[in-house]
Amino acid sequence: MNLPTSVTLVEMGPRDGLQNESASISLATKLRLIDDLAAAGLSVIESGSFVNPKWIPQMADSAEVFRGLQRRAGVRYTALTPNLQGLERALDAGADEVAVFAAASEAFSRKNINCGIAESLQRFEPVMARAEAAGVRVRGYVSCVLGCPYEGEIAPQNVLEVARALLGLGCHEVSLGDTIGTGTAGSTQRLLDALLPQIPAQQLALHCHDTYGQALANILVGLQNGIATVDASVAGLGGCPYARGATGNVATEDVVYMLNGMGIHTGIDLDALVSAGARISEALGRRNGSRAANALLASAG
Ligand code: HMG
Ligand code: MG
Repeated sequence: MNLPTSVTLVEMGPRDGLQNESASISLATKLRLIDDLAAAGLSVIESGSFVNPKWIPQMADSAEVFRGLQRRAGVRYTALTPNLQGLERALDAGADEVAVFAAASEAFSRKNINCGIAESLQRFEPVMARAEAAGVRVRGYVSCVLGCPYEGEIAPQNVLEVARALLGLGCHEVSLGDTIGTGTAGSTQRLLDALLPQIPAQQLALHCHDTYGQALANILVGLQNGIATVDASVAGLGGCPYARGATGNVATEDVVYMLNGMGIHTGIDLDALVSAGARISEALGRRNGSRAANALLASAG
């Protein structure tokens, strides 16, 4: 087995998590969440999204979020940027790293970013050039890698093509999004069988939504294949506005609990993370979506 000795967790709660909440969330609540996560040891925190605010109103104040951050040393505060306009806004607000997002499904691409896959890749070209000139790294996402709400099954070959295109454009890493959480240990292995001969595991991350409760199993398959970057969302916050019924990313607490049990280093203080998840769940009036956090909170009385 090819298990990594340490894993980087990329925290999605403030972006993928909060983007899907319908209640309005104060700037102070967002800033508190991000700082709690940084204090717990998360070193990469996706803190906002510079998309069309008419599409995702919850992220409309991302510039204020970035300007209000109490930056902690060693933490990268990152943002989604779908186009040049978004990138300029992100640079202006001080994002440390940005991300472009494509899909392996044509239909999902059109719903999510209002253009097809090929056009989206063209749209990213000036984004990459401008980011490089500004000295800012770009992550790439591929959505629907293990299934699409509109097209159903997605061929691994489609994922490979989009992932290679993103790396070819200059993305330092590609995060594989199981947007609707339909993937299983079997389909995750088949996907990685198609990708890993062409793309080194170090350039891949897993981004599992936990809709079908398969995320930890899929992440374990990723780890066994040498993937050492995992996206997760504290308290399992979130969903996807363009994938009805999809739940949030796998809870960060659950991933840390699993990795601790495997002796894999994350640099994260699980107790502090559980407190962060409890605080944001309470602020949102939402049930905590982390099984490990609920168990730890119950056992602490
Ligand atoms: P569009 O409507 O096709 O863009 O949107 P447009 O270029 O035709 O512009 C229309 C209007 O949008 C104009 O304003 C632009 O100024 C404005 P108007 O003249 O009508 O007043 N606009 C912007 N405003 C602010 N910031 C911008 C921006 N761009 C245009 N960056 C666009 C195209 C991509 C912008 C739009 O479709 C969009 O914002 N989509 C984002 C959807 C989104 O955020 N989805 C969720 C995030 S992705 C995700 O969750 C998946 C992931 O987690 C991985 C996984 O789970 O699979 C990453
Ligand atoms: Mg997502």
